[in-house]
Amino acid sequence: MGPPDPIIGVTEAFNRDSNPNKMNVGVGAYRDDSGKPYVLPSVRAAEEKLLSQNLNHEYLPTHGCPRFRQAAKILAFGEDSVAIKDNLIASAQSISGTGGLRIGGMFLNKFHYSKLLYLPSPSWGNHTPIFRDSGLEIKSYSYYKKDTKSLDFENMINDIGKMEEGATILLHACAHNPTGVDPTLEQWDEISEAIKKKNLLVFIDMAYQGFASGSVEKDAYAVRKFINDGHRILLSQSFAKNMGVYGQRCGAISVVAEDAEAAAAIESQLKIIIRPLYSSPALNAARLVTAVLEDAELHKQWLIDVKGMADRIISMREALKAGLAREGSVHNWDHLTNQIGMFCFTGMNPEQVERLISEFSIYLTKDGRISVAGVSSKNVDYLAHAMHQVTK
Ligand code: LMR
Repeated sequence: MGPPDPIIGVTEAFNRDSNPNKMNVGVGAYRDDSGKPYVLPSVRAAEEKLLSQNLNHEYLPTHGCPRFRQAAKILAFGEDSVAIKDNLIASAQSISGTGGLRIGGMFLNKFHYSKLLYLPSPSWGNHTPIFRDSGLEIKSYSYYKKDTKSLDFENMINDIGKMEEGATILLHACAHNPTGVDPTLEQWDEISEAIKKKNLLVFIDMAYQGFASGSVEKDAYAVRKFINDGHRILLSQSFAKNMGVYGQRCGAISVVAEDAEAAAAIESQLKIIIRPLYSSPALNAARLVTAVLEDAELHKQWLIDVKGMADRIISMREALKAGLAREGSVHNWDHLTNQIGMFCFTGMNPEQVERLISEFSIYLTKDGRISVAGVSSKNVDYLAHAMHQVTK
């Protein structure tokens, strides 16, 4: 019998609990303020539009829907991206972020001379298995400082300086998972420079575009900055969170090449990796996301929808902090509102997490990460009370 997954296992345990007050703040899945799964109005409108078109259910090409791939590129790299105009980007529609990372990992294992990949410490729980199973060797670099609950910038830059030349460094574009701690724009500039010096290959995981700041442009800063600085990056995009199409499994993997000929060659190799894995990606996912991104009205609505989700999360962070103060907590909880994105890295230890689960039926990952997307005005006081009880 294998062990449960550190993140998905939390939901499995939550589902088995019969306590009516139970809370699932484990997996990063957005809920509305009544705790219900949320279908974005823009996505619902796209669904209706598609239904009225009586579409067929034929296979997509191996690397996915061409219109989707173009729309995803424009969203990430920008309307005026030279890399898009010059056809420098090889891309494939993926089975959401996980699939994009896995295809990227396998591509690196097959074609990049270095098989070494550096992950931030900590990183998303699935990164290590994804890249290990892609055949890469994994090392880590400093990212998060426990005592200040903020970015360990100095050690991060030092660690980059010590990395093996030509290896790959994985970066979270925005809303770092699990810490909710991102570099500032100036820090991104320095990171880009330090990476350039070591001739590292950059792999960016962008699973939360729009969720960190509420602006899809601002959240893509690192991606566009690295391209402008001359890095030839890999990029995995997920539409699970920012479009709320989790189960549709929609994402993209892009590889920026030095010229159009290399990009075409890389794209052919991505197809060769994908064909024996799952043959071709999900049709409905691509249709939904393309319909939202391509239609000017729906796109405008989507930007409002994603900002609405980001804003609700910010207001829940504030409510949780205020609730802890009302409970009489003497700890400094400033990090609850300083961190951004879906996740809050609370600083609670495994014993405190265990008590939240066993005494209060509040389910979260062992590292003390709370998915703020699962907090609502109805349960935030219960969460604050429970967190105070286990941390006082
Ligand atoms: C999370 O970290 O909770 C999300 O990225 C969902 C997942 O698949 O782990």
